[in-house]
Amino acid sequence: MSKIQKIKGVADLFPPESNKFNFMERTAREVFSRYGFKNVRIPIMEKTELFARSIGEETDVVQKEMYTFPDRKGRSLTLRPEATAGLMRAYIENKLYAAESVSKLFTFGPMFRYERPQKGRMRQFHQLDVEVIGAKDAQTDAELLLMLYSFLRELGLKKLAFEINSLGCRECRPKHRQALKEFFESINKDELCEDCRRRVDSNPLRVLDCKQERCRELTKDAPKITDYLCEDCHNSFEEIKRILTEMNVEFVHNPRLVRGLDYYVGLTFEVTSSDIGAQTAVAGGGRYDGLIKQLGGPDLPAIGFALGMERLALLLQDLDNDGIDFYVAVLDEKGSTPALMLAQELRAAGLCGEAGYTKGSMKSRLRAANKAKASWCLMLGTDELEAGEVTVKNLESGEQERMKSSAVCEYLIANR
Ligand code: HAM
Repeated sequence: MSKIQKIKGVADLFPPESNKFNFMERTAREVFSRYGFKNVRIPIMEKTELFARSIGEETDVVQKEMYTFPDRKGRSLTLRPEATAGLMRAYIENKLYAAESVSKLFTFGPMFRYERPQKGRMRQFHQLDVEVIGAKDAQTDAELLLMLYSFLRELGLKKLAFEINSLGCRECRPKHRQALKEFFESINKDELCEDCRRRVDSNPLRVLDCKQERCRELTKDAPKITDYLCEDCHNSFEEIKRILTEMNVEFVHNPRLVRGLDYYVGLTFEVTSSDIGAQTAVAGGGRYDGLIKQLGGPDLPAIGFALGMERLALLLQDLDNDGIDFYVAVLDEKGSTPALMLAQELRAAGLCGEAGYTKGSMKSRLRAANKAKASWCLMLGTDELEAGEVTVKNLESGEQERMKSSAVCEYLIANR
């Protein structure tokens, strides 16, 4: 029979790789809850319309990258390409706004985008996603960036670049759009790539985000959105920069940072690393006031970000934390049940370990204990069984000590 293999762009994760994902999730829970965020779980599938209406019809994500399919009754469903749209749908549907004026939520799990797979770019990838709904001030924005910064430091990642920009609001955006249109009239549009030629009319801001060398060259003198900000947007952006500077967060203002999703207004940001290949963004986010209203909810401001776990994993050291505390070695055939009982007692006390039930020679049992990366081997031989004792061997130092079975638990905990 031929073997069935996984589909392109997805991954099976085993230790030590899966340890990194556990570590990221554990750290996220710890750090985000210190800032008052609550963990929520939402579906992986949503109605296609949700993504079209929030991410934007004209974006690459909606046009080219969604896994969209009809269900058995012909309704169009999509595997989520990101978490923000689904979280906002859930926020509105569950009327969280009626219970609290500000909601701070985070979620994590798999996302799906039909992209060309390469290092750090998968078709099924994982995000840690964070959203603040109901607050609109520079302090909220700066604090969210500080939390992102602290989280990355807690993971041990220090060599990352923070880029920020402001995309303005409904008041300043049209003036910039007009200036951009005039600018595009002044260059030879035919030299732009096919996507950008289309975007010049549909979404001129996105042309600034094109990664093609020729497009970047042609648009290097394009008007910057930050030169067109209204007073409120300008003051808010200046205040965010002031707080970050005061808190010693290093950042650069990148006026070309426009992001690939249409819902952003005001502050946008990305965290990048030059150590993970062509896909440099490990996190991205920004403000998206207006989206909740657009999805049929109240007119509430919101801001958030998502971290790409596969890209973070490329930066993390291998975490070999799959060692265990004890391995019970059975050297006499009467030892299997006592071994099981001892292992149960130790696990109940919070120690982790295994009992090898098959009887064997001392040499083969010690080999098994070392293979399991145990700190101690607990030996049950004929003498020990008769005396109700255990020989406890420290596998690192080689020292061993014989003691009553009832004393083992306390001994291991004291010497852990
Ligand atoms: P995004 O920039 O599209 O934003 O994705 C966030 C992060 O997800 C990226 O910086 C990257 O690390 C990771 N990522 C995206 N696509 C892939 C892929 N194909 N393979 C591996 N990693 C990937 C959002 O998704 C927004 N929803 C973020 C947000 C939350 N904005 C406001 N709230």
